This record gives sequence, C-alpha cells and structure tokens, in this order.
Amino acid sequence: MAKLIAGVATSHVPAIAAALDNGKSGEPYWQPLFKGYEFSKKWIADLKPDVVILVYNDHASAFSLEIIPTFALGCAEEFPPADEGWGPRKVPVVKGNPDLAWHIAQSTILDEFDITIVNKMPVDHGLTVPLSLMCGQPKEWPFQVIPLCVNVIQYPPPTGHRCWNFGKAIRKAVESFPGDQRVVIFGTGGMSHQLQGPRAGLINSTFDKNFLDRFSADPESLTKIQHLEYVREAGSEGIELVMWLIMRGALDIDAKEIYRFYHVPASNTAVGHMILENRH
Ligand code: DHB
Ligand code: FE
Repeated sequence: MAKLIAGVATSHVPAIAAALDNGKSGEPYWQPLFKGYEFSKKWIADLKPDVVILVYNDHASAFSLEIIPTFALGCAEEFPPADEGWGPRKVPVVKGNPDLAWHIAQSTILDEFDITIVNKMPVDHGLTVPLSLMCGQPKEWPFQVIPLCVNVIQYPPPTGHRCWNFGKAIRKAVESFPGDQRVVIFGTGGMSHQLQGPRAGLINSTFDKNFLDRFSADPESLTKIQHLEYVREAGSEGIELVMWLIMRGALDIDAKEIYRFYHVPASNTAVGHMILENRH
C-alpha cells in the first residue's frame, strides 16, 4: 500500500515568488527567509517522495465568488500555473496523479466528506510558492502533486476540527491505495497576517509561536480554535491556518518534529514552517 510518511507546513506569501522569479532572493531583505528553507530543500531532495498532497487555497484564480467549493481535489493529469494579473509564473506545470487522486476522492466521499472533484484547475501562488520554497527553481517539479484546495476566502470556511478529521480520512485513503508510493502532505498558508481594513499589517508572533509549539506537541488542542479567534488573534487571512490542521490530522499524533522556522516580515506576513515525520 502507499504510505504517508511526512508533512510540511509552510506559508505561501506571493512576494516570495516575486523575489525568487526576479532574482532578488539574495538581497538583504530576502536572504534570511530563503536561508530558513535550505535545510528543507535538502531534506525533501533526500527523501524523494513520489507524490505530494498539497493542501492550499486558491485566491480567486481558479475559482471566484461564482463557485466556492469547501474542499476541491485536483484529479487531473496536470495543472498549469495561474495568471494572477501579471502573466503565469514561469514555473513548471504541476503533474498530478489521477489514479491516487480519484482513490482519495472515493475513499473520503465514502467516509462522508463531500468534496468537489476538479478535472481542470490553474494553480496560483497558494500552491506554487510552497513548491518553490521546498524545491527551488527546477526544470520539472521532482514529484507528482495532488492539489487539495480549501475555501478560506469566503465565509464560512471549514472549521479546524473538520480539517483535522479530513486529514485522518486522507491518511486512511492514501494507505489503502494499492501501490508503493511514498506520500508527503503539505499544509500551507498562514501564519498571522491581515491584508485589508484598519488592522492591515497585523502580525501576532506570540500567537504564531504558540501555534507552532502546539502544532508539534499537542496538535489536537488546536482543533478547538474557532474562526473568530483566528481572525482576532491572527488577522483575517490568519484563517488560512486551518489548512495546516488537514496536514497535521493526516500524521501520527506523535509525529517527530524535524525542523522549524519562523520569520517576520515577508511582505505583510509572518512566515511559519515546520517539517514532521511519521513514526508509524
Ligand atoms: C499576501 C497574499 C496572500 O495570499 C498571503 O497569504 C499573504 C500575503 C500579500 O499579498 O502580501
Ligand atoms: Fe494567502
């Protein structure tokens, strides 16, 4: 059977893509941020996963207010980089794994998670920035990617508790897939940030660091955080953190923390990052 071996949490700030794509990653402002991912790039290059399930959110690129799926699973052969207003990023096309994706759809839907199956979907910075941070600038992404898009844009997003349980269903789905694929799950977005309104620019490092501590050692306690608490403490876009709980729910409760990085600022955002490996 396929095996879910590890999880990666990381922010997805679009300015990171702009820095990388425009050759600015060595500038004093950006250098500490990219340095924080050097360990991670080596870790994933050594691990060589076959497939990454990439939990992320679309920012009105593939979807709009016309259609708002809560959980949308990418089952296509490939996913092109989205045009977010200045042309698509010049990064490789994302190659999927339709067999495993359809198996996850079947298993999770039969487990009563009513996800949306998507066969055509451009992917925006929510998905491509985590890939760039973890893989740099390769000609082809070094693994297949199954995009799992979560609505954290338009109220009501799913609860953290729902995300946690969905992660468990994903683990069950992966580990009932006949094959020998080694699968890593990414939970992306966050940490604290607010891009609009009177509190624009909000960063709450106390909340973020506490979240990281509990994410590693006491993750189930995070499922009790309600939407309003995320918005109050982590800003309106801090709600993206519920996506991390899908990743964490898919791992062992006692998964081993391998690496942690926290950095402020990147554009208007606090950047958080953690790698955990399953023990079982
Ligand atoms: C920005 C956009 C995002 O989607 C995000 O998660 C963080 C920051 C931005 O425009 O700076
Ligand atoms: Fe975002």
